[in-house]
Amino acid sequence: MENVITELEEGGDSLCFSSGMAAISTIYFSTLRKYDQIVLSAESYGTTLQLGEKLREFGIDVQVSWPETENIIESINRKTKLVLIEVVTNPTLRVFNIREIAEVCRENKTILVVDNTFATPYLYKPLKDGVDIVLHSLTKYLSGHNDVLGGSITSSKEKILELWDWRRMLGTIIPPFEAFLIIRGLKTFELRMEKHCKNALIIAEHLQEHPKITEVLYPGLTSNKYHDIAKKLFNNKGFGGVVSFRIKGGEEEVVRLMKNLKIIKPAPSLGGAESILTYPVISAAMTMPKDLRDKLGIKEDLLRLSVGLEDVEDLIEDIDKALASI
Ligand SMILES: Cc1ncc(COP(=O)(O)O)c(C=O)c1O
Repeated sequence: MENVITELEEGGDSLCFSSGMAAISTIYFSTLRKYDQIVLSAESYGTTLQLGEKLREFGIDVQVSWPETENIIESINRKTKLVLIEVVTNPTLRVFNIREIAEVCRENKTILVVDNTFATPYLYKPLKDGVDIVLHSLTKYLSGHNDVLGGSITSSKEKILELWDWRRMLGTIIPPFEAFLIIRGLKTFELRMEKHCKNALIIAEHLQEHPKITEVLYPGLTSNKYHDIAKKLFNNKGFGGVVSFRIKGGEEEVVRLMKNLKIIKPAPSLGGAESILTYPVISAAMTMPKDLRDKLGIKEDLLRLSVGLEDVEDLIEDIDKALASI
């Protein structure tokens, strides 16, 4: 499995972990020492940020930057040991200009870690743009069936050798049965991604025209603020399988909508064969302070849809019927 992931990410070597968070905590522990500075994006997977903030208790200088390329770049200086960002943020789907951030990190001798869980190597290979370490929650697209937890790190052979010792000491290795399931999932990775991206674009375009939807956040839409940078970074095969959108209304309408879905499942994950609808304020962003959530636009009207591999017409019918109930 590690060899397959190394080939997919075009890196030197890889290590697999028991979850995405196991990979992230191993990076934090192995890289950071007292007085080091880390820059994190304010819109990160909630637990990445929550554990990052805890590093202050160990004497680490933790800087949480506004999630735009220019703000991340402004936060980086000679004291910055590590920057950890996601290629596509969750759930509002901003896209960072990784190429520009990598250049600034190189000048400052800062280690750039990129979480490629949402974009996946099907769309983007960060190491080719000068990123030092790529990580994944394999729980999502790389395993692809909503039935397993795993994480991975890909980097140079030297860096991976160093991390190998840390994985052994921390006990964050992936168990064998999970590895078997992920290898099986990887066999259909390309086919699945092709369909996820195709379905997601059709659904995003459909929702954009829907009277009960006030905004669709998807970098594949030409009107999206991040469309140009996504086009520049991604390889013309699509824009990912996650579409976020705002409905007319708030929590009450969201609950009604979720109860009326027949195919799409209300649940807190993404990247699997089955479509999943997530309510970010009570899942991925739950650990985030409310004022920050509000500023980022993660409000009561926002939903995140992980578009699965079902027939797209069935999915549209399911969403339309549920939207008619609100
Ligand atoms: C972008 C991203 N990174 C990391 C993680 C953590 O992964 P895991 O759930 O496998 O620990 C998640 C989980 O949702 C995620 O969305």
